[in-house]
Amino acid sequence: QQTACIFDLDGVLVDTAVYHYKAWKQLANSLGFDFTHAQNEQLKGVSRMRSLDMILEWGGIRKSDAEREELASLKNSWYVAMISKMTAGEVLPGSLELLRQLKQQGIKIALGSASKNSALILERTGLAHFFDAIVDGNAVTTSKPDPEVFIKAAELLDTAAAGCVVFEDAFAGVQAANAAGMGVVGIGDAENLKGAQIVIKDLSEITVAEIEALNRFLK
Ligand code: G6P
Ligand code: MG
Repeated sequence: QQTACIFDLDGVLVDTAVYHYKAWKQLANSLGFDFTHAQNEQLKGVSRMRSLDMILEWGGIRKSDAEREELASLKNSWYVAMISKMTAGEVLPGSLELLRQLKQQGIKIALGSASKNSALILERTGLAHFFDAIVDGNAVTTSKPDPEVFIKAAELLDTAAAGCVVFEDAFAGVQAANAAGMGVVGIGDAENLKGAQIVIKDLSEITVAEIEALNRFLK
């Protein structure tokens, strides 16, 4: 059974996590409070509206639906201003090399991201051409840890879930990959990524052979 790779975007292929953090922090500060790095960790992989709701709760602030929509678009406008200036230099270490090798070996590649801004980011960083399928926040109705985003990606790649290996920097994403019955490589700190089969610092630390060994048909 063939292996396919599904990559999260923010914090795995590109260094956008820092921009999300800056924009959310600016929003919280404008409302008169702040949140910690540990709290920020919980926002990774979480949709825009769900992130806003978590932040408002941390600040003990209640807002109407209309105000919530406004705050979310304000944050997004700051975020989009930052990512509009991104360059290929913000692709994380090892991403390009690994994507090239996967392509060379005929392994299919999908994006599985909660972001509604994925097209802009992939275009700015020159990564778009690597993907056989793109599933992002515009294509799903439920957020990670629900497995919908990865299940859709596997369907588009015409690959069984057990043959898919997911790359994730968010705990919610690791949970989603496990719920989908896929292999999962965690990117970042092992203590934040319980449930991942391997945890690496970045994509320069893994080979195609090691990825193929995570294909669950081989277990
Ligand atoms: C990714 C990021 C989250 C972000 C979400 C939605 O999962 O890790 O921090 O909230 O995408 O991104 P968007 O670009 O649609 O606001
Ligand atoms: Mg991520």
